Amino acid sequence: MKFTFYGHACFSVEIKGKHLLFDPFISPNEKAAHIDVSSVKADYILVSHGHEDHIADAVYIAKNTGATVVSNYEIVCWFGTQGVKNGHPMNHGGKWNFDFGSVKYVNAVHSSVLPDGTYGGNPGGFVVESNEGCFYFAGDTALTMDMQLLGKYHPLDFAVLPIGDNFTMGTDDAIIAADLIRCNRIIGVHYDTFGYITIDHTEAKKKFAAAGKQLTLLGIGDSIEL
Ligand code: NI
Ligand code: MN
Repeated sequence: MKFTFYGHACFSVEIKGKHLLFDPFISPNEKAAHIDVSSVKADYILVSHGHEDHIADAVYIAKNTGATVVSNYEIVCWFGTQGVKNGHPMNHGGKWNFDFGSVKYVNAVHSSVLPDGTYGGNPGGFVVESNEGCFYFAGDTALTMDMQLLGKYHPLDFAVLPIGDNFTMGTDDAIIAADLIRCNRIIGVHYDTFGYITIDHTEAKKKFAAAGKQLTLLGIGDSIEL
């Protein structure tokens, strides 16, 4: 699986030649100014919740690529009102088999409203399973005991967790989350974009290492094979 980081909580994972793009927020992010949004590939756009910092470029990219938006029912309906033709609505606990593998929409403890004030349903995260591997994107969330279930029933190769604190888990809680989901390979997201979520990279990596886990913090635009 090829993983590419686009800044904040936006990344793509390539599975079986399909591009899964998560939480596109690129053009408003000054730190991602070198990313050309029109060149971002997507066959599917997975949206964890309705906040602006997770969907800013989603309508544009969906129209530009013809990608299918996968999110909760309320958010997929909203994309329909924005002229996005392809949507796949889900709700918490539900799983669907796509052509690359399966997606399960799972709990997140956060809030969710769309930029125009439309109700955005309840926020979530995603577990993606395929024969190339399995991973969890937590979306924006607090540490929650629900994460135990994910670790017990899904063999995760890696997990994408928010670590910026203030609006989501910080590093210390993300380490506990990694324990609960039984995953030692963590990609950190949702840090440094705004003043409220600035972190010390060295300290964060040290804390994860001390807990026997690997924290990867990618440069914006960088890709790794996982
Ligand atoms: Ni949020
Ligand atoms: Mn956010």
